[in-house]
Amino acid sequence: MPNTRLVIFGATGDLTRRFLVPALYRLHRAGLLEPDLQIVIYARRPMTLETYLAGMEHALREMGKEMSAWTEFARRFVAYVQGGLDAEGVRQLRDWTDGNAVFYLALPPGLFAEAAEYLAAAGLHHEHAGYRRLVIEKPFGQDLQSARQLQQRVSRHWREEQIYRIDHYLGKETVQNILVFRFANLLMEALWNRNYVDYVQITAAETAGVEDRSGYYDQSGALRDMVQNHLMQLFTLTAMEPPPCLDADALRGEKVKVLQCVRPIPQNAVGAFAVRGQYTRGRIGERDVPGYLEEPGVAPHSTTETYVALKLYVDNWRWQGVPFYLRTGKRLAAERSEIAIQFKSAPVHLFRQTPLDTLVPNCFVFEMKPSESMSLVAQAKTVGLEMRARTVVLRACYREAGEEGFEAYETLLLSILQGDRTYFLRFDEVEMAWEVLDPILRAWQTQNLPMAFYPAGSEGPREADRILDLPTHRWRPLKGESGDKACG
Ligand code: BG6
Repeated sequence: MPNTRLVIFGATGDLTRRFLVPALYRLHRAGLLEPDLQIVIYARRPMTLETYLAGMEHALREMGKEMSAWTEFARRFVAYVQGGLDAEGVRQLRDWTDGNAVFYLALPPGLFAEAAEYLAAAGLHHEHAGYRRLVIEKPFGQDLQSARQLQQRVSRHWREEQIYRIDHYLGKETVQNILVFRFANLLMEALWNRNYVDYVQITAAETAGVEDRSGYYDQSGALRDMVQNHLMQLFTLTAMEPPPCLDADALRGEKVKVLQCVRPIPQNAVGAFAVRGQYTRGRIGERDVPGYLEEPGVAPHSTTETYVALKLYVDNWRWQGVPFYLRTGKRLAAERSEIAIQFKSAPVHLFRQTPLDTLVPNCFVFEMKPSESMSLVAQAKTVGLEMRARTVVLRACYREAGEEGFEAYETLLLSILQGDRTYFLRFDEVEMAWEVLDPILRAWQTQNLPMAFYPAGSEGPREADRILDLPTHRWRPLKGESGDKACG
């Protein structure tokens, strides 16, 4: 059996320190890494392997990790190869990769293509002696055109089967649970269509601002940073048909079919489908926080959006006419990620003693944050002699007390090492997602569409209501009650 080397590019960066090394350490402790897996660091900064490892150990300690397995884990790191992104530097890696190899590009997005090319120029993509895999972080391109260009450069040397495009949401257990819950149960699937569903609402709200990433974020914005990847994944997993099997391509094929059915957004009517917003000064909890334009590193008159609300229609038999509302934003009132399936009202109002406005229609919610749960909002009889209805919430926690799951990067790294591409993006999926959003990007760049401002710590801009189809459609409150039982 050839040995396996994981080569991390950009190994001194934030992603490696905060996510990759902690994830590898956890997998090691759980006994899930093959004994022969070794790690090679490739980075620009001159440093010894010992100094590098001391820095990582310190970082993990600061995160409060249990460190008893560190010394043993650190032995997996076999080299710190110093070099820039050039032919000569990358060629040094030949000495460190003679069997299986995974090249993880934890680099700024502008460097993905070059890195893939230099690796190929050094012959490191050839699979004579073992497999060769290339892991590319998000974002894959800045828009449709740049994504296609990047793909062209990468695919000139690397076969699609060798490429692992990351969207860390696909590594989240609660996201994978959407598939299990939908397709392992008969009950919901029968109702999961236009006959019963009024609308679907997908939210990823954060209280954090741009933190220390303004350099990247100001060039990117919420549509590119969150919608094109994470929200589109939640959307396709919610809307897709059952795949014939759980094979990576069968699953990804179904997601692509959803994207193919998305009604194109007309370039001259983007305002009816999408709202962009930017946070102004406000309060998060007990803290006064600056507005986006006051954040260090943000251009003084930046028109980068920190909030997006978007409406999509899926023109197929299952979903025709059902709006999918997607929203995401920084510096909002609460941390909340969820998918809410809002069902239609019961056809007849039988319980006349119950005022109509308290008869809430059924709603099914996958909550990923703040707690990990599934809830069904339903009507049941009130206590007492009257035949009146009241709202009850049937709630199930994703995990029971004491059950420990895996973090997104842990699941993803393990899948890469096992050669399972199910939870990675295929290029056509990335391309179609850009295709859906490209008219919005172009309209925001070229037309004078207004920016909707919202104070930090609020529910987002009121203008988001503009894209709702009916007065009965509502954005769910971010601070809303999660039910009486805390989960996860
Ligand atoms: C990242 C974005 O991909 O996802 C960040 O670049 C965002 O801006 C993050 O904060 C959110 O991820 P999670 O797992 O905390 O929901």
